[in-house]
Amino acid sequence: MRIFSGIQPTGRKHLGNYIGAIVQYVSSQDRGEGFFCIVDLHAITVAYDPAELRQRTYDTTAILLAAGLDPARCTLFRQSDVPQHTGLTWLLSSVTELGRLQRMHQFRDKSLAQRELVPAALLLYPVLQAADVLAYRAHEVPVGEDQREHLELMRDVARRFNARFGDGEDVLVVPEHRIPQVGARVMDLQDPTRKMSTTGGSEQGTVYVLDEPKAIEKKLKSAVTDSGSEVRRASDKPGVSNLIEILAAVRGSDPAAVEAELAQARYGELKAAVATAVVDYLAPVRERYERLRADEDALEQILSDGAVRAETIAAETLADVRERMGVGGPRRARTVT
Ligand code: TYM
Repeated sequence: MRIFSGIQPTGRKHLGNYIGAIVQYVSSQDRGEGFFCIVDLHAITVAYDPAELRQRTYDTTAILLAAGLDPARCTLFRQSDVPQHTGLTWLLSSVTELGRLQRMHQFRDKSLAQRELVPAALLLYPVLQAADVLAYRAHEVPVGEDQREHLELMRDVARRFNARFGDGEDVLVVPEHRIPQVGARVMDLQDPTRKMSTTGGSEQGTVYVLDEPKAIEKKLKSAVTDSGSEVRRASDKPGVSNLIEILAAVRGSDPAAVEAELAQARYGELKAAVATAVVDYLAPVRERYERLRADEDALEQILSDGAVRAETIAAETLADVRERMGVGGPRRARTVT
Protein backbone atom coordinates (compact mmCIF):
# COMPACT_ATOMS: atom_id res chain seq x y z
CA MET A 1 0.00 0.00 0.00
CA ARG A 2 1.23 3.47 -0.83
CA ILE A 3 0.79 6.29 1.67
CA PHE A 4 1.28 9.99 0.93
CA SER A 5 1.06 13.13 3.00
CA GLY A 6 2.25 16.71 2.80
CA ILE A 7 3.11 19.35 5.35
CA GLN A 8 3.77 23.06 4.88
CA PRO A 9 7.14 24.45 5.85
CA THR A 10 5.56 27.62 7.16
CA GLY A 11 5.56 28.78 10.74
CA ARG A 12 6.44 26.63 13.66
CA LYS A 13 4.97 23.16 13.89
CA HIS A 14 2.59 22.76 16.80
CA LEU A 15 1.03 20.01 18.88
CA GLY A 16 -1.94 19.80 16.47
CA ASN A 17 0.35 19.07 13.52
CA TYR A 18 2.22 16.60 15.66
CA ILE A 19 -0.60 14.46 17.01
CA GLY A 20 -3.02 15.05 14.16
CA ALA A 21 -0.57 14.20 11.41
CA ILE A 22 3.15 13.65 12.08
CA VAL A 23 2.61 10.73 14.47
CA GLN A 24 0.44 9.09 11.81
CA TYR A 25 3.19 9.51 9.21
CA VAL A 26 5.64 7.77 11.52
CA SER A 27 3.37 4.82 12.28
CA SER A 28 2.43 4.42 8.62
CA GLN A 29 6.03 3.42 7.87
CA ASP A 30 5.13 0.01 9.33
CA ARG A 31 2.08 -0.36 7.13
CA GLY A 32 3.23 0.63 3.68
CA GLU A 33 5.42 2.59 1.34
CA GLY A 34 5.37 6.16 2.66
CA PHE A 35 5.96 9.38 0.73
CA PHE A 36 6.19 12.52 2.84
CA CYS A 37 6.48 15.85 1.15
CA ILE A 38 7.47 19.28 2.45
CA VAL A 39 5.14 21.38 0.35
CA ASP A 40 7.11 24.57 -0.26
CA LEU A 41 5.03 25.42 -3.36
CA HIS A 42 1.90 25.53 -1.23
CA ALA A 43 3.68 27.90 1.13
CA ILE A 44 4.08 30.59 -1.55
CA THR A 45 0.31 31.03 -1.92
CA VAL A 46 0.32 33.55 0.95
CA ALA A 47 2.76 36.37 1.79
CA TYR A 48 6.15 34.90 2.74
CA ASP A 49 9.85 35.64 2.97
CA PRO A 50 12.03 33.70 0.44
CA ALA A 51 15.10 33.29 2.67
CA GLU A 52 12.94 32.18 5.56
CA LEU A 53 11.09 29.63 3.43
CA ARG A 54 14.30 27.70 2.78
CA GLN A 55 15.19 27.71 6.48
CA ARG A 56 11.69 26.59 7.44
CA THR A 57 11.94 23.73 5.00
CA TYR A 58 15.00 22.47 6.88
CA ASP A 59 13.24 23.05 10.21
CA THR A 60 10.28 20.95 9.10
CA THR A 61 12.52 18.23 7.67
CA ALA A 62 14.42 18.00 10.96
CA ILE A 63 11.16 17.83 12.95
CA LEU A 64 9.87 14.96 10.80
CA LEU A 65 13.14 13.08 11.22
CA ALA A 66 13.20 13.78 14.96
CA ALA A 67 9.65 12.43 15.20
CA GLY A 68 10.80 9.16 13.69
CA LEU A 69 10.59 9.30 9.91
CA ASP A 70 13.40 7.11 8.65
CA PRO A 71 14.73 7.91 5.15
CA ALA A 72 15.67 4.25 4.78
CA ARG A 73 12.02 3.24 5.23
CA CYS A 74 10.16 6.08 3.52
CA THR A 75 10.67 8.81 0.96
CA LEU A 76 11.00 12.29 2.41
CA PHE A 77 11.32 15.09 -0.13
CA ARG A 78 10.67 18.72 -1.04
CA GLN A 79 7.76 19.33 -3.39
CA SER A 80 9.54 21.85 -5.65
CA ASP A 81 12.34 19.34 -6.38
CA VAL A 82 9.88 17.14 -8.28
CA PRO A 83 8.57 19.11 -11.29
CA GLN A 84 5.80 16.61 -12.00
CA HIS A 85 3.73 18.11 -9.16
CA THR A 86 3.27 21.37 -11.05
CA GLY A 87 2.99 19.64 -14.42
CA LEU A 88 0.17 17.47 -13.16
CA THR A 89 -1.53 20.44 -11.49
CA TRP A 90 -2.05 22.11 -14.85
CA LEU A 91 -3.37 18.95 -16.47
CA LEU A 92 -5.76 18.26 -13.58
CA SER A 93 -6.99 21.84 -13.53
CA SER A 94 -8.78 20.98 -16.76
CA VAL A 95 -10.97 18.47 -14.89
CA THR A 96 -11.53 20.67 -11.82
CA GLU A 97 -14.62 22.82 -11.49
CA LEU A 98 -13.86 26.49 -10.91
CA GLY A 99 -16.93 27.11 -8.73
CA ARG A 100 -15.90 24.31 -6.40
CA LEU A 101 -12.46 25.89 -5.89
CA GLN A 102 -14.06 29.25 -5.16
CA ARG A 103 -16.29 27.67 -2.53
CA MET A 104 -13.49 25.87 -0.66
CA HIS A 105 -13.36 27.04 2.98
CA GLN A 106 -9.65 27.61 2.94
CA PHE A 107 -9.81 29.79 -0.17
CA ARG A 108 -12.61 31.87 1.30
CA ASP A 109 -10.89 32.33 4.67
CA LYS A 110 -7.43 33.00 3.31
CA SER A 111 -8.53 35.30 0.51
CA LEU A 112 -10.51 37.37 3.02
CA ALA A 113 -7.46 37.57 5.29
CA GLN A 114 -5.20 38.69 2.42
CA ARG A 115 -4.74 42.45 2.65
CA GLU A 116 -3.47 43.16 -0.84
CA LEU A 117 -3.41 40.76 -3.76
CA VAL A 118 -5.31 37.48 -3.68
CA PRO A 119 -2.99 35.29 -5.77
CA ALA A 120 -4.45 32.89 -8.32
CA ALA A 121 -2.19 30.28 -6.70
CA LEU A 122 -4.43 30.37 -3.64
CA LEU A 123 -7.36 29.29 -5.79
CA LEU A 124 -5.32 26.50 -7.37
CA TYR A 125 -3.92 25.34 -4.02
CA PRO A 126 -6.26 22.31 -3.79
CA VAL A 127 -5.42 21.22 -7.35
CA LEU A 128 -1.72 21.18 -6.46
CA GLN A 129 -2.61 19.17 -3.37
CA ALA A 130 -4.57 16.72 -5.54
CA ALA A 131 -1.58 16.45 -7.89
CA ASP A 132 0.73 15.74 -4.93
CA VAL A 133 -1.20 12.65 -3.97
CA LEU A 134 -2.43 11.46 -7.38
CA ALA A 135 1.10 11.60 -8.87
CA TYR A 136 2.02 8.69 -6.60
CA ARG A 137 -1.24 6.79 -7.02
CA ALA A 138 -1.33 6.75 -3.23
CA HIS A 139 -4.06 4.74 -1.51
CA GLU A 140 -4.05 6.47 1.81
CA VAL A 141 -3.50 10.02 3.04
CA PRO A 142 -2.94 10.55 6.79
CA VAL A 143 -4.16 14.05 7.73
CA GLY A 144 -5.96 16.00 10.45
CA GLU A 145 -9.65 16.81 10.27
CA ASP A 146 -9.08 20.22 8.63
CA GLN A 147 -7.93 18.55 5.39
CA ARG A 148 -11.19 16.67 4.81
CA GLU A 149 -12.50 19.10 2.19
CA HIS A 150 -9.24 18.96 0.25
CA LEU A 151 -9.37 15.17 0.29
CA GLU A 152 -12.94 15.15 -1.02
CA LEU A 153 -11.91 17.39 -3.89
CA MET A 154 -8.91 15.27 -4.84
CA ARG A 155 -11.07 12.14 -4.85
CA ASP A 156 -13.53 13.85 -7.20
CA VAL A 157 -10.72 15.05 -9.46
CA ALA A 158 -9.36 11.50 -9.71
CA ARG A 159 -12.83 10.12 -10.44
CA ARG A 160 -13.54 12.75 -13.05
CA PHE A 161 -10.19 12.16 -14.73
CA ASN A 162 -10.80 8.41 -14.87
CA ALA A 163 -14.32 8.90 -16.23
CA ARG A 164 -13.19 11.36 -18.91
CA PHE A 165 -9.86 9.84 -19.97
CA GLY A 166 -9.59 6.39 -18.40
CA ASP A 167 -11.35 4.43 -21.12
CA GLY A 168 -12.77 2.10 -18.50
CA GLU A 169 -9.55 1.95 -16.51
CA ASP A 170 -8.65 3.57 -13.21
CA VAL A 171 -5.59 5.45 -14.38
CA LEU A 172 -5.53 7.48 -11.17
CA VAL A 173 -6.13 5.93 -7.76
CA VAL A 174 -8.96 7.48 -5.73
CA PRO A 175 -7.26 7.88 -2.32
CA GLU A 176 -8.77 7.42 1.13
CA HIS A 177 -8.10 9.82 3.96
CA ARG A 178 -6.87 8.52 7.28
CA ILE A 179 -7.97 10.86 10.04
CA PRO A 180 -7.00 9.75 13.55
CA GLN A 181 -9.66 8.75 16.09
CA VAL A 182 -8.11 10.93 18.77
CA GLY A 183 -6.36 14.26 18.17
CA ALA A 184 -7.75 14.92 14.67
CA ARG A 185 -8.57 18.48 15.65
CA VAL A 186 -6.49 19.87 18.49
CA MET A 187 -7.98 23.15 19.65
CA ASP A 188 -6.35 26.42 20.70
CA LEU A 189 -5.78 26.37 24.48
CA GLN A 190 -6.97 29.95 24.89
CA ASP A 191 -9.93 29.65 22.54
CA PRO A 192 -10.98 26.00 22.37
CA THR A 193 -13.65 26.75 19.78
CA ARG A 194 -10.86 27.35 17.21
CA LYS A 195 -8.31 24.86 16.00
CA MET A 196 -4.72 25.18 17.10
CA SER A 197 -2.99 26.89 14.20
CA THR A 198 0.14 28.86 13.38
CA THR A 199 -1.72 31.51 11.47
CA GLY A 200 -5.09 31.95 13.15
CA GLY A 201 -4.37 30.93 16.74
CA SER A 202 -3.08 32.70 19.82
CA GLU A 203 0.57 32.44 20.91
CA GLN A 204 -0.37 31.41 24.45
CA GLY A 205 -2.89 28.91 23.15
CA THR A 206 -0.46 27.14 20.81
CA VAL A 207 2.05 24.57 22.03
CA TYR A 208 4.95 24.36 19.59
CA VAL A 209 6.84 21.11 19.15
CA LEU A 210 10.06 22.98 19.91
CA ASP A 211 8.81 24.94 22.93
CA GLU A 212 10.95 24.73 26.07
CA PRO A 213 9.39 22.53 28.80
CA LYS A 214 8.72 25.62 30.93
CA ALA A 215 6.77 27.28 28.14
CA ILE A 216 4.73 24.12 27.50
CA GLU A 217 3.90 23.86 31.18
CA LYS A 218 2.86 27.49 31.39
CA LYS A 219 0.63 27.28 28.32
CA LEU A 220 -1.11 24.12 29.47
CA LYS A 221 -1.55 25.28 33.04
CA SER A 222 -3.17 28.50 31.84
CA ALA A 223 -5.44 26.71 29.35
CA VAL A 224 -8.99 28.02 29.36
CA THR A 225 -11.43 25.57 30.97
CA ASP A 226 -15.18 25.69 31.25
CA SER A 227 -17.84 26.23 33.86
CA GLY A 228 -18.63 23.26 36.09
CA SER A 229 -15.96 21.07 37.66
CA GLU A 230 -16.31 17.61 36.15
CA VAL A 231 -13.54 16.19 34.01
CA ARG A 232 -15.55 14.84 31.08
CA ARG A 233 -16.09 15.58 27.40
CA ALA A 234 -19.20 17.54 26.42
CA SER A 235 -20.14 19.96 23.68
CA ASP A 236 -20.46 22.76 26.24
CA LYS A 237 -17.02 21.91 27.64
CA PRO A 238 -14.69 22.53 24.68
CA GLY A 239 -11.69 23.42 26.85
CA VAL A 240 -11.86 20.35 29.07
CA SER A 241 -12.69 18.10 26.11
CA ASN A 242 -9.61 19.36 24.29
CA LEU A 243 -7.34 18.66 27.28
CA ILE A 244 -8.77 15.15 27.65
CA GLU A 245 -8.17 14.46 23.95
CA ILE A 246 -4.61 15.79 24.12
CA LEU A 247 -3.81 13.62 27.12
CA ALA A 248 -5.31 10.53 25.47
CA ALA A 249 -3.41 11.21 22.23
CA VAL A 250 0.00 11.65 23.82
CA ARG A 251 -0.52 8.59 26.00
CA GLY A 252 -1.75 6.55 23.06
CA SER A 253 -4.87 5.66 25.08
CA ASP A 254 -8.47 6.69 24.58
CA PRO A 255 -10.39 9.65 26.01
CA ALA A 256 -12.85 7.42 27.91
CA ALA A 257 -9.92 5.89 29.84
CA VAL A 258 -8.66 9.38 30.73
CA GLU A 259 -12.15 10.38 31.92
CA ALA A 260 -12.41 7.27 34.07
CA GLU A 261 -9.00 7.85 35.61
CA LEU A 262 -9.61 11.52 36.34
CA ALA A 263 -13.28 11.24 37.33
CA GLN A 264 -12.56 12.63 40.80
CA ALA A 265 -9.94 15.15 39.70
CA ARG A 266 -10.27 18.92 39.55
CA TYR A 267 -9.50 20.97 36.46
CA GLY A 268 -6.16 22.00 37.96
CA GLU A 269 -5.09 18.37 38.28
CA LEU A 270 -6.16 17.64 34.73
CA LYS A 271 -4.05 20.55 33.45
CA ALA A 272 -1.05 19.45 35.51
CA ALA A 273 -1.36 15.88 34.18
CA VAL A 274 -1.55 17.11 30.58
CA ALA A 275 1.41 19.45 31.09
CA THR A 276 3.64 16.66 32.45
CA ALA A 277 2.58 14.25 29.73
CA VAL A 278 3.17 16.73 26.89
CA VAL A 279 6.55 17.85 28.26
CA ASP A 280 7.71 14.21 28.48
CA TYR A 281 6.30 13.51 25.05
CA LEU A 282 8.00 16.39 23.25
CA ALA A 283 11.32 16.59 25.14
CA PRO A 284 13.05 13.74 23.25
CA VAL A 285 11.80 15.13 19.91
CA ARG A 286 13.31 18.51 20.71
CA GLU A 287 16.64 16.95 21.68
CA ARG A 288 16.84 14.94 18.47
CA TYR A 289 15.77 17.99 16.48
CA GLU A 290 18.66 20.11 17.82
CA ARG A 291 21.17 17.53 16.64
CA LEU A 292 19.57 16.97 13.22
CA ARG A 293 18.92 20.64 12.46
CA ALA A 294 22.60 21.52 12.99
CA ASP A 295 23.64 19.63 9.84
CA GLU A 296 21.97 21.34 6.87
CA ASP A 297 24.08 19.46 4.34
CA ALA A 298 22.80 16.16 5.69
CA LEU A 299 19.20 17.42 5.56
CA GLU A 300 19.69 18.61 1.98
CA GLN A 301 21.12 15.21 1.06
CA ILE A 302 18.11 13.40 2.52
CA LEU A 303 15.72 15.67 0.61
CA SER A 304 17.53 15.33 -2.68
CA ASP A 305 17.82 11.54 -2.40
CA GLY A 306 14.10 11.49 -1.64
CA ALA A 307 13.32 13.64 -4.67
CA VAL A 308 15.13 11.22 -6.98
CA ARG A 309 13.03 8.32 -5.71
CA ALA A 310 9.83 10.36 -5.82
CA GLU A 311 10.44 11.60 -9.34
CA THR A 312 10.80 8.09 -10.76
CA ILE A 313 7.24 7.31 -9.70
CA ALA A 314 5.69 10.70 -10.43
CA ALA A 315 7.21 10.74 -13.93
CA GLU A 316 5.56 7.44 -14.73
CA THR A 317 2.13 8.72 -13.68
CA LEU A 318 2.60 11.96 -15.58
CA ALA A 319 3.54 10.09 -18.74
CA ASP A 320 0.33 8.01 -18.43
CA VAL A 321 -1.79 11.09 -17.82
CA ARG A 322 -0.28 12.97 -20.78
CA GLU A 323 -0.81 10.00 -23.03
CA ARG A 324 -4.45 9.62 -21.98
CA MET A 325 -5.07 13.31 -22.46
CA GLY A 326 -3.45 13.39 -25.89
CA VAL A 327 -0.89 15.91 -24.71
CA GLY A 328 2.60 15.77 -26.24
CA GLY A 329 3.94 13.21 -28.71
CA PRO A 330 3.29 9.46 -28.50
CA ARG A 331 4.79 7.82 -25.50
CA ARG A 332 8.14 6.28 -26.26
CA ALA A 333 8.55 2.61 -25.41
CA ARG A 334 10.42 2.29 -22.17
CA THR A 335 13.82 0.71 -22.51
CA VAL A 336 14.79 -1.66 -19.80
CA THR A 337 18.46 -1.40 -18.99
P1 TYM B 1 -0.57 21.83 7.17
O1 TYM B 1 0.87 22.04 6.89
O2 TYM B 1 -1.40 23.01 7.56
O3 TYM B 1 -0.74 20.79 8.34
C1 TYM B 1 -0.03 19.56 8.35
C2 TYM B 1 -0.92 18.50 8.97
O4 TYM B 1 -1.29 18.87 10.31
C3 TYM B 1 -2.69 18.70 10.48
N1 TYM B 1 -3.17 19.70 11.46
C4 TYM B 1 -3.86 19.40 12.58
N2 TYM B 1 -4.26 18.23 13.08
C5 TYM B 1 -4.95 18.27 14.27
N3 TYM B 1 -5.23 19.43 14.93
C6 TYM B 1 -4.85 20.63 14.45
N4 TYM B 1 -5.11 21.74 15.11
C7 TYM B 1 -4.13 20.65 13.22
N5 TYM B 1 -3.58 21.64 12.45
C8 TYM B 1 -3.01 21.05 11.38
C9 TYM B 1 -3.26 18.93 9.11
O5 TYM B 1 -4.54 18.35 8.97
C10 TYM B 1 -2.23 18.30 8.21
O6 TYM B 1 -2.48 16.92 8.05
N6 TYM B 1 -2.79 21.45 2.70
C11 TYM B 1 -1.96 20.74 3.66
C12 TYM B 1 -0.63 20.27 3.13
C13 TYM B 1 -0.66 19.37 1.94
C14 TYM B 1 -1.08 18.01 1.91
C15 TYM B 1 -0.84 17.58 0.58
C16 TYM B 1 -1.63 17.15 2.85
C17 TYM B 1 -0.21 19.67 0.71
N7 TYM B 1 -0.31 18.59 -0.13
C18 TYM B 1 -1.18 16.28 0.20
C19 TYM B 1 -1.94 15.86 2.46
C20 TYM B 1 -1.72 15.43 1.15
C21 TYM B 1 -1.68 21.66 4.82
O7 TYM B 1 -1.71 22.87 4.69
O8 TYM B 1 -1.27 21.05 5.96
